[in-house]
Amino acid sequence: MMRILHVAAEIYPLVKTGGLADIVASLPPALAKRGLDVRLLLPGFPAILEGLLGLAPVIRFGPAFGAAVITIRIGRMPDSGLHAYVIDAPFLYQREGNPYVDAKGHDWSDNHRRFALLGWVAAHMASGELSPGWLPDVIHAHDWHAGLVPVYIAQNPGLKTATVFTVHNLAFRGIFPMDYYVELGLPATELTPQGIEFRGKISFMKAGLVHSRKITTVSPAYAREIRTPEFGCGLDEVLRERGDDLTGILNGVDYAVWNPDDPVSGRSYNLNNIQGKKECKLALQSELGLSPHATGPLFAVVSRLTSQKGMDLLLAALPDFIKAGVQLAVLGTGDSALESGFRHAALTNPDSIAVHIGYDEAMSHRFMAGADVFLVPSRFEPCGLTQLYALRYGTLPLVRKVGGLGDTVIDASPENLKSEKATGFVFDLATLPAFLGCVRQACALYGDPTTWLQVQRRAMGQDFSWNDSAANYESLYRSLN
Ligand code: ADP
Ligand code: GLC
Repeated sequence: MMRILHVAAEIYPLVKTGGLADIVASLPPALAKRGLDVRLLLPGFPAILEGLLGLAPVIRFGPAFGAAVITIRIGRMPDSGLHAYVIDAPFLYQREGNPYVDAKGHDWSDNHRRFALLGWVAAHMASGELSPGWLPDVIHAHDWHAGLVPVYIAQNPGLKTATVFTVHNLAFRGIFPMDYYVELGLPATELTPQGIEFRGKISFMKAGLVHSRKITTVSPAYAREIRTPEFGCGLDEVLRERGDDLTGILNGVDYAVWNPDDPVSGRSYNLNNIQGKKECKLALQSELGLSPHATGPLFAVVSRLTSQKGMDLLLAALPDFIKAGVQLAVLGTGDSALESGFRHAALTNPDSIAVHIGYDEAMSHRFMAGADVFLVPSRFEPCGLTQLYALRYGTLPLVRKVGGLGDTVIDASPENLKSEKATGFVFDLATLPAFLGCVRQACALYGDPTTWLQVQRRAMGQDFSWNDSAANYESLYRSLN
């Protein structure tokens, strides 16, 4: 049985700041279902140590990376039952709240050591020093947090473990001062533009890109986009050079978690009984204090409130939303200027705009179920998961044609309606007129309930489960041996 170790900083339902956690929770079980022997390696954040079942120590060592004592433990994930190794290093990880930043929102000053340790442990697991009973054939590292995995593996020239590095978001490059290399035990020979040096600093993301055997990212479109200066975040040249080893594999959805027959949202409906969705809408309007008498559709957003997600565009569009008689529900956290902008809009338009600043998993399901249209007007979007969830809930996604959004939503243009392909609304340019044009298009279709229902049914019938994508990852792993 081929052994695969997934290395990542977050995993649903234990620690989640975004889509990475959903993918790290759902891809490994999909691979296990295909007959691969899959395990996880995670940092010992409090919620991970508390949430894993049957934790038992594997090995204890230290000091390293500033921690006096480090214990590798093994347990099982509460939902999938997969084995997970966890790095119990209280000095580095025993901090409540967000895994990356302190209570004031500043990066922890020792993040370089906290995430280097993740890569270092993975490499030493490959060498058999830490868990001799289970040697991975492939180590699959996710995002910059695990970017040093292949660099540490390269420190042992005898080690042939294959590595796959997945870029979930190139905008987060894991950048640290150059002189930290000593603390990280990295050789000075790495500090070149061909190595992990990036604009006079060290980039963990670049380390993953340069040293892994294969690079993947989370949609075919983003795999093309990141080779260009517009989307490449300064790493496009590296990505062009490694072009033969870079592929886009679309993220999948765990439909056991994201499903309108949904205990989390408290109400349920399905493809054959969309009526239940109306009740979900009334319940959401009542929960948020929105008027149940609006003539236009209810738009929803569940998102980080950042410019990546186009939230400034949405804020600028609100006066036109009000004029068009539509409603908007926003659930999110992020940039403080955007948070206060949305708060202010809700205060001045309580019947039509509701804003909940915060992170609330259960509420996000109620938004999915209760809204008519789900907005994702991103400036860039590696894959995007909420539009995929929205499709399954019959909540028509309105997205910008970028990254994974353009790969997964089909615009309700007259041709696509006629050929029975449309599943949502897609606009091209990140401009207010383009966005508002698309909003008007959604409102017009909402005024035609028969066609709306047809598109809703088609959306709900889309299959973005892991089946195909997990098969693609498996072929990639097999090509490495
Ligand atoms: P990203 O990872 O770039 O933020 P994705 O669309 O891949 O974007 O994933 C976002 C995930 O985080 C989804 O599961 C979404 O429901 C969730 N999410 C984002 N903001 C919130 C929030 N404020 N409350 C609850 N869930 C949220
Ligand atoms: C990142 C991206 C998002 C993607 C997610 C999971 O956070 O911003 O587009 O869906 O990772 O791959």
